[in-house]
Amino acid sequence: MKRILVTGGLGFIGSHTVVELQSAGFNVVIIDDLSNTTIDVLDNITEITGIKPEFHQIDLRIKNEVTSFFDNNTIDGIIHFAAFKAVGESVHQPLDYYENNIGSLVYLLQEMKNRKLDNFIFSSSCTVYGQAVELPITENAPIKPAESPYGNTKQIGEEIIKESCNAYTLNAIALRYFNPIGGHDSIKIGELPLGVPQNLIPFITQTAAGIRKELSVFGNDYPTKDGTAIRDYIHVVDLAKAHIAALKRLINKNNKNNFEFFNVGTGKGSSVLEVINTFENVSGKKLNYKIVGRREGDITAAYADTTIANKELNWKTEKTLDEALESAWKWQLKQH
Ligand code: WQD
Repeated sequence: MKRILVTGGLGFIGSHTVVELQSAGFNVVIIDDLSNTTIDVLDNITEITGIKPEFHQIDLRIKNEVTSFFDNNTIDGIIHFAAFKAVGESVHQPLDYYENNIGSLVYLLQEMKNRKLDNFIFSSSCTVYGQAVELPITENAPIKPAESPYGNTKQIGEEIIKESCNAYTLNAIALRYFNPIGGHDSIKIGELPLGVPQNLIPFITQTAAGIRKELSVFGNDYPTKDGTAIRDYIHVVDLAKAHIAALKRLINKNNKNNFEFFNVGTGKGSSVLEVINTFENVSGKKLNYKIVGRREGDITAAYADTTIANKELNWKTEKTLDEALESAWKWQLKQH
């Protein structure tokens, strides 16, 4: 049974990926520093799969802790989620983002190099494209200068991995996520934003639950059908399954290059108002919102061309926006 390290495995996307890994027959070991999640998620995963993943609370910024882990653990692959991910926060704390997101990546890759480990999956983001000229966005779209230190850590991260793959016996895949939303059908794991949510869906569900007074829609003067910005909202379980597909591609040595990257989205764009309307339909709740000015750094539209990912990963999304929003709403109701 292949043993897979999942860093950030108690986080939103990490926990859903651990569930799919265990369901696919992999032996999972999690590293998480619990800075943006709670230890309860470990029991929640166990309740879903019946298998308690091995867990180590490690801060990947501490090199000798990382080395000590690999001294004592045999690993057949790594899925690396652990990173800070708040775009706005990164503008105010850039050094924290570079130290954590880049530092921990370098330490992991050094261990892989020194021990001739292979199969590395990297959590990247469609943020690397900025506002793409052509939509839907293909993997050939040019990488734009990052709009935030967070986005820059994803771009730099991909470069570091690509160069490491070329220099050492390493095979890696970067998955460029669009907008992950929703939660597991069991309603035992989901998105746990700490503090005031920055992302649209948790703010919508918290508003509907009465935790927030109203949703501010950031701009309705974009050049889109209804003036609000368009994104590609992908169910987190579909996204988790893309990681299993990518890992199998590397383990089975079906990759065509030592470093590959794929757009992971639904291929469908939805505007903020469309998301609000869909949410109202699936929840039966009227959402209290107001239109305000644009949020700095936001782009007009981003949605994926999924042709390559569908073909090369033999993977495609199965869940609809309705199902994703319904799962997000059920998860919210369970929180309170
Ligand atoms: C979606 C849309 C907002 C909140 C970011 C990161 C990306 C990834 C996902 C980590 C936009 C609008 C939002 C609100 C609103 N993060 N909005 N009112 O900005 O597309 O992507 O999160 O990997 O890397 O860049 O996601 O959910 O913040 O915004 O109107 O209260 O909803 O303007 O159009 P975004 P988001």
